[in-house]
Amino acid sequence: MSEWVCSVCHEISSGQEPPEFCSRCDSDQRMIIPKEDVPQTLEQVRDRARKKLKGICAAYPSCDGSYEKICQREAYGKPIGLGGAGQGRSFRANSKALEDLELNMSVVGDHFEPDMSCSFLGMDLDFPVLAASTAGPGKYNDAMDETSFCISVLKGAQEAGTIGLRGDTWFYTEEKHPSLDSMEACKGFGIPIFKPRSQDVLKRLIERAEKLNCRAVGVDLDGSGSTIMARHGQPVFKKSVKDIRELTEFSSLPFIAKGIMLPDEAQKCADAGAAAIGVSNHGGRVLDSTPGTAVMLPLIRKKLGDSMPITVDGGVRTGYDVLKMLALGADAVLLGRDIIRAAAGAGTLGVALHLEHIKNTLKKAMFMTGTRNIGTADSRVLFNHKA
Ligand SMILES: Cc1cc2nc3c(=O)[nH]c(=O)nc-3n(C[C@H](O)[C@H](O)[C@H](O)COP(=O)(O)O)c2cc1C
Repeated sequence: MSEWVCSVCHEISSGQEPPEFCSRCDSDQRMIIPKEDVPQTLEQVRDRARKKLKGICAAYPSCDGSYEKICQREAYGKPIGLGGAGQGRSFRANSKALEDLELNMSVVGDHFEPDMSCSFLGMDLDFPVLAASTAGPGKYNDAMDETSFCISVLKGAQEAGTIGLRGDTWFYTEEKHPSLDSMEACKGFGIPIFKPRSQDVLKRLIERAEKLNCRAVGVDLDGSGSTIMARHGQPVFKKSVKDIRELTEFSSLPFIAKGIMLPDEAQKCADAGAAAIGVSNHGGRVLDSTPGTAVMLPLIRKKLGDSMPITVDGGVRTGYDVLKMLALGADAVLLGRDIIRAAAGAGTLGVALHLEHIKNTLKKAMFMTGTRNIGTADSRVLFNHKA
């Protein structure tokens, strides 16, 4: 007799063979792990992800879109997988922009325990790192069911003391929408980000999110160039200020305008009633040759002043990167590819382990730079070569 653990809901069962479906959460066998193989470390999660995502992602320690990485090397003429658009320049620009920043190491002063707690859109979180909106891994090597993937991200984030966003893609429909299905399974503890579909479709999706008690909603405005959506009969559109205002006014939920890379456009979204701006180039997946998000973030913060929360994502891999983004003006930092890998490796368990690791490195980064709390993470922690 063996014991089996559901990596999505932690249910334990016993039998010679793994159950076909988890008796508690209905996740299928792909998410069920022999008890003795349940990963205890991030390395074990990555080893499992490497196998499950074979040919798509090798779960390298450094995920930066460089040419030798399989996601980028094999990009031509193939689905984008986990890579970046075109030559991967925007993907790499995100990593490079973070690499170019250096932290001031501060070791003299009173001893302290860094306080990572924060508030985002009225929610109290243990630390300012969120799981980014992503969608599609259910199609990678048939590694996992898309809804189980989404639930893993939401539950893993919640277990780590934070919250997850969920995405939207060509095989999500109004009838079968894994992001909203996972919100239902998690009592609405999450933030669905919808593709810029027609206003009517968006309103219906937002209405459902509201009924499910989701904590906020949003649209990835940079998803408007997606041709695969249209090819599957789900067209997406550029959104005008009037469209955005119509959406922010339609719902009582805070609205996140994600995919903003220009200060003036951030201001337009703010004027249209957005509750938060998501500085993002979609992990370099929608337009090649943009600057890194860490380059644009301080310009957007300068434009908006302290008027509203800003999230940022792109190339963030460690707590050290998180601190850099906070110092540049972000209120919350999103992780994309790393969370996909963690969920592929070990469902909720993997996502929670990954986020705990990020929390630990953020704590270390704060301690070693003399940053007592999130509110004091500002430009003073960054080394200024010109000063
Ligand atoms: C495979 C994949 C799917 C994604 N799907 C979505 C999506 O459905 N909606 C969305 O707003 N962003 C989507 N993104 C972008 C992420 O939200 C985020 O901006 C990006 O992954 C951050 O960069 P990082 O992966 O380097 O951390 C996706 C990214 C990846 C890698």
